[in-house]
Amino acid sequence: MERYVVTGGTPLRGSVRARGAKNSALKLMAASLLAEGEYVLHDVPRIADIYTMQAVLERLGCATGFDDSTMRITVPDGIGSEAPYDLVRQMRASIVVLGPLLARRGHARVAMPGGCNIGSRKIDLHLKGLERMGATIGFDHGYLDAGGGLHGTEIALDWPSHGATENLMMAATLAKGTTIIENAARDPEIADLAVFLTSMGARIAGAGSPIITIEGVEELRATEHAVVPDRLEAGTLLIAAAVTRGDVLVQGARAEHLDIVLSKLADAGADVIATTAGVRLVMSEQPRAVDFVTLPYPGFPTDLQPQMMVLCALGSGTSIATENVFENRFMFVDELVRMGADIRTEGHHAVIRGRDELQGAPVRAPDIRAGAALVIAGLAAAGTTEITGLEYIDRGYQSFEDTLSLLGASIQRESVQRALQA
Ligand code: UD1
Repeated sequence: MERYVVTGGTPLRGSVRARGAKNSALKLMAASLLAEGEYVLHDVPRIADIYTMQAVLERLGCATGFDDSTMRITVPDGIGSEAPYDLVRQMRASIVVLGPLLARRGHARVAMPGGCNIGSRKIDLHLKGLERMGATIGFDHGYLDAGGGLHGTEIALDWPSHGATENLMMAATLAKGTTIIENAARDPEIADLAVFLTSMGARIAGAGSPIITIEGVEELRATEHAVVPDRLEAGTLLIAAAVTRGDVLVQGARAEHLDIVLSKLADAGADVIATTAGVRLVMSEQPRAVDFVTLPYPGFPTDLQPQMMVLCALGSGTSIATENVFENRFMFVDELVRMGADIRTEGHHAVIRGRDELQGAPVRAPDIRAGAALVIAGLAAAGTTEITGLEYIDRGYQSFEDTLSLLGASIQRESVQRALQA
């Protein structure tokens, strides 16, 4: 087991380059299943979730390889159709291979993803949409068994699910006729997927808006693409800069993908400077309390809620955070309270009374983003914070400790075994 040892009190200063978005790269990898050939993906983050998707593709018969941050994927003519439980349980986003496999093979067997630490994470919208397109879906000993030719149709999503929008969009590219997805998710990663699919020969209009129209084509071809910058990694680093009262430029970050986050940080007292080079944040005072509400994009991202809670915990005044996307996403609050934060949760609301100081403590990361939030809390806390559960942080952040060290943070990664022996 490994842990981070963070000594707080140093403002983050300097500049780092934004990496490609995990939540886009994973789906582009799944989309490559739609056509045989050689794919080249630039700016792919080297993180555990990407390795899991590589393993899924390899089980299906593809070859994948990394050269720095460029990934090459070779998809053969004959691919498998099963995504096994040992991989899907490591990363529930593996469910996005369902649409491409069904569209390409006419059959797919994908392990049912379970819940996770942030919520039950249902997939009913993925399945209902595919059924409307003509798929027959059965359940067999923990697996989804899907088959049937797909045809175009109108699908109105009850909720703008990120994953369901992507699964249905990919399935529709090879369906017969036109599919219209209403109440679609509008995230930048969905627009990125549409650019990728279009360069494969798909016909897609409206991605990034609530109505996406996909005209099915006979076949697609392999392509080359650079992944959109990761707004969540960039947002995490900018919030870390604000919490430590530092000055950080995230090169390549796109301000237009972080609108509401940057406006909340400005409300908290930060100077936010957005240029074509990236986004710079300078904070010279204690943050002011800010209320925020998570909502599907372009609302405040649920994936930045834990990090923003840390800012509020160190703010002057009382903030109210409302979580509307995942029901268990306040689970990490108890860890933050152990560091001295004053937070009371009531259902999907949290009341945060800002304090002048947090104290270092041993804490455990319960999920990817809460893990990053606890690291940020450690960077600002008095004394030393030991964070375990790094397997979660590694799923979403490439060498988080190196990125933060570059910005002047005191953070070491060490094996707990070694630490105990020392
Ligand atoms: C994606 C992101 C995740 C982000 C989330 C919301 C990836 C790999 N993950 O997850 O980081 O936090 O979007 O922006 O891209 N829901 C249903 N039925 C469904 C699908 C979803 O009820 O069929 C519910 C979920 O339980 C959840 C909410 O809708 O409460 C949001 O889920 P969704 O937008 O689908 O998130 P993911 O695609 O899983």
